[in-house]
Amino acid sequence: MYSIDQLQDLINKQIAEKQYPDTPSELYEPIQYIMSLGGKRMRPALVLMACDLFGGSVMKALDPAVGIEIFHNFTLVHDDIMDKAPLRRGKQTVHVKWNENVAILAGDVMLVEAYKLLTRVDDNILRSALDVFSTTAAGVCEGQQIDMNFELSNGVDISGYLEMIRLKTAVLLGGSLKIGALIGNAPEEYADYLYKFGENLGIAFQLQDDILDVYGDPEKFGKQVGGDILSNKKTFLLVKALEIAEGIDKEELNYWLSSESAEAETKVQSVTQIYNRLGVRQLAEHQMSQFAEKALSALAKIDIPSERKDTLRSFAERLLIREN
Ligand code: IPE
Ligand code: IPE
Ligand code: MG
Ligand code: MG
Ligand code: MG
Repeated sequence: MYSIDQLQDLINKQIAEKQYPDTPSELYEPIQYIMSLGGKRMRPALVLMACDLFGGSVMKALDPAVGIEIFHNFTLVHDDIMDKAPLRRGKQTVHVKWNENVAILAGDVMLVEAYKLLTRVDDNILRSALDVFSTTAAGVCEGQQIDMNFELSNGVDISGYLEMIRLKTAVLLGGSLKIGALIGNAPEEYADYLYKFGENLGIAFQLQDDILDVYGDPEKFGKQVGGDILSNKKTFLLVKALEIAEGIDKEELNYWLSSESAEAETKVQSVTQIYNRLGVRQLAEHQMSQFAEKALSALAKIDIPSERKDTLRSFAERLLIREN
């Protein structure tokens, strides 16, 4: 079996070697740009790990894996427009460096490119692989729309929040693993357990993303710290805070949510202090470990020698103590 580092090397090399047409440069340069900024490359690693878990050919899984990474980067380019984010992976976002139209169209062609790479699977699994991918991609769009709806809503509860992040983030981790499992000819039952593993891991991962957005180290995070607070994003921290705050904390929180003219830094600091007083970070971390445990128990149901699952297990552990 391959180590995580070996798989990451394969992915990085394949991405670095990928060529895009020269013209129109406004369409293709942003793709080269965002793809060259790296990132954790977690989703393609999941495709390869799932395939390798069942003794499939990792080389055959490489193009579809890169396709899924391109799809992920497409969602980031559009997400950054929607979230008005200035920074991604420590560099200017595409719509800031170029403009919004460029970012929309570069994203569109990235989705097409993702499909092109996904179709490079064996004919006997083509239909099912595309099916998983399309269902996943639609799920991400649904989650992203719900996320935007929630910015303007006061009635979001934790279960609504969890369903939103399941869609916008977790289904893609599940889908990546399932596609890898299909390429590795896994029994269907095991492919489904792996999907469940990815889905629960993805929910834990997005909880961590919400925590880092407030408490991340600006030097390492690569995104604007406090961005979620500035856009009234219904993160776990905010939804929980609104649920448990009383008296002066509640008044203050509602004040910041409705103030449109607040100075950015003051708003971020003040809301963070309310979060600190309410201890919502600890509650988020607790929720995160519950989903991580759920993920591991789905993995445990796959009846193959436990050592074969070590790579996935340690990858999951590493993911949840990350700093970016
Ligand atoms: C960011 O994904 C979007 C979320 C689902 C939170 P990653 O944190 O995997 O981003 P990169 O690819 O490593 O930059
Ligand atoms: C993004 O969630 C999920 C997708 C891109 C589909 P976020 O908006 O929290 O991701 P970041 O924090 O910008 O990476
Ligand atoms: Mg977003
Ligand atoms: Mg965002
Ligand atoms: Mg985020």
